[in-house]
Amino acid sequence: MDKQRGLNTIAKEIEHCTICKEGKTGLAVPGEGNPDADIVFIGEAPGKTEAKTGRPFVGRSGQLLRSLIREIGLEEKDVYITSPVKYLPLKVTPTPKDIAHGRTHLMKQLEVIQPKVVILLGRVAAEGVLQNPTSVASGDLRGVRKVAVTKERGNVIEERDGVKYFLTYHPAAALRFPVKFKRILEEDFEKVKKFIYN
Ligand code: URA
Repeated sequence: MDKQRGLNTIAKEIEHCTICKEGKTGLAVPGEGNPDADIVFIGEAPGKTEAKTGRPFVGRSGQLLRSLIREIGLEEKDVYITSPVKYLPLKVTPTPKDIAHGRTHLMKQLEVIQPKVVILLGRVAAEGVLQNPTSVASGDLRGVRKVAVTKERGNVIEERDGVKYFLTYHPAAALRFPVKFKRILEEDFEKVKKFIYN
C-alpha cells in the first residue's frame, strides 16, 4: 500500500471524527512528516498555534523539538511528528478518554508508517502508545502501563514487534522549567542519537 495515501485516509477520518472533536477546538492536527520514517516523535495534543495551522509542533514547544531533532543530525523531512490527541482540548490537559480515543487513530498511523523507533514525549504520549491488553475502542486505559516519566525517562521502555519505544520529557517541560529539564532533554536526545546511528 502507498503509505502517503494510507496516512491521507487516516487524516480524513480524523477531520470527520466527531468523538475526536468532543471538548476540543480548532483545526485537526493529524501529524506530518515522512510516511517512510524510521523515527516517529509523539507529543501530547495540539496547542493554540497548531490548532490554527493544522500542523503539529509549530509553536514554542515545536521549535524546541525541531531544533533538538536537527541537533542529533536528523532532518525534519526524514521523521514523522504527531500526537495521540488530534485537536486542542478546551481544558488543555487531555482526559483519559481523549487519549484512549486518539490512540485508535494513532495506532493506525503507526501501522502504516512502521517505524523502527518511537520517541514518547511525556506521559500522555506513553499512555497513547504503550501496550494495552484490554479493549482500546472502549476508551478504557486501565490496561495501559502507567509510566513515571521522571524515573523511567532516558530509556527504551518497551520493545514490541521490533519497534523500540524511548521515553523522555515533553519539550514543554523544558520551556516551563529550563534549569531542571532542558539539559536532561538534550542528554536524552544524545542517547537517541547513539542508538539510531548504531
Ligand atoms: N504539544 C504537542 O504535544 N503537540 C503539538 O503538536 C504541539 C505541542
